[in-house]
Amino acid sequence: MEPSIDLNEIRDFLVELAKQAGELITSKTGQTTYDDKANSVDLVTETDAAVEKLVATKCNEKYPHFEFMGEESYVPGVTKLSDKPTFVVDPIDGTTNFIHSFPFSCTSLGFAINREPVVGVVYNPFLNLMYTGIQGQGSFLNGTHKLPLRQPPAGTKLTLQNALIGIEWGTQRSGVNYQVKTDTFKKLAAEDGKMVHGFRSLGSAAMNICAVAAGQLDAYWEGGCYAWDVCAGWVILAEAGGRIVGGNPGLWEPAVDQRIYLAVRGGDGCEQFVEDFWDCIEGRLEY
Ligand code: IPD
Repeated sequence: MEPSIDLNEIRDFLVELAKQAGELITSKTGQTTYDDKANSVDLVTETDAAVEKLVATKCNEKYPHFEFMGEESYVPGVTKLSDKPTFVVDPIDGTTNFIHSFPFSCTSLGFAINREPVVGVVYNPFLNLMYTGIQGQGSFLNGTHKLPLRQPPAGTKLTLQNALIGIEWGTQRSGVNYQVKTDTFKKLAAEDGKMVHGFRSLGSAAMNICAVAAGQLDAYWEGGCYAWDVCAGWVILAEAGGRIVGGNPGLWEPAVDQRIYLAVRGGDGCEQFVEDFWDCIEGRLEY
């Protein structure tokens, strides 16, 4: 790591920036129009672009030598996450929630060095949830509550049967990925399958990962999202004792832009849980 980079200063800067982004987001709630991207469930609003502009401008002003990668300025096939210090930003994660005024949208501000997430700030301005993490220094909710917030009862191993699992349907509603997801959901849910405690869809990858970091979800399985959806949450979860592995079987150390993930909380039984989850995946996700 470059010795001159002060990660605490970056965390503090991103926290202030997240608050400014939050003010902009909440000021536009209920009055935004939206456009389709890839299809009618892949949505974007003018506020996504406005928040990214705010965040990118402030990042470039304060840290002109760092790179910036954001969802709204991403150019497929051109934009690549490099080894350089890079802000990895989703201005509004949970855009569909934002459109519907469902209060689980957030700004996800990550910072990576050598493609490794080292600072994460995730702020949901509707519920005033500010998650922060710095590599090696722990992760927190609203500055003071150390993550995880919830520990499972003593002596309880994490198993599929006692798990509450975050899932998302995604924006592909046909084809192989849709088939793999829906077949796997059925196997995990069914009485003659694993009969997990339940599924939750918060509608935001960053919110799902932070819920795993908090110990409120046990895992979150996702295929199809991008580095900006996971970079900030990655540090927050790792510092809470959890980890992100591949969302297809066998990949224990995925890249942050690998697009297919399984986030798991820390604690007894977690490695076996990953193996058991992988065994339930019906086919292979391809993005
Ligand atoms: C989406 C959300 C969603 C996840 C998608 C993401 P957006 O981000 O995080 O939960 O399933 O893969 O694209 O579009 O709301 O920024």
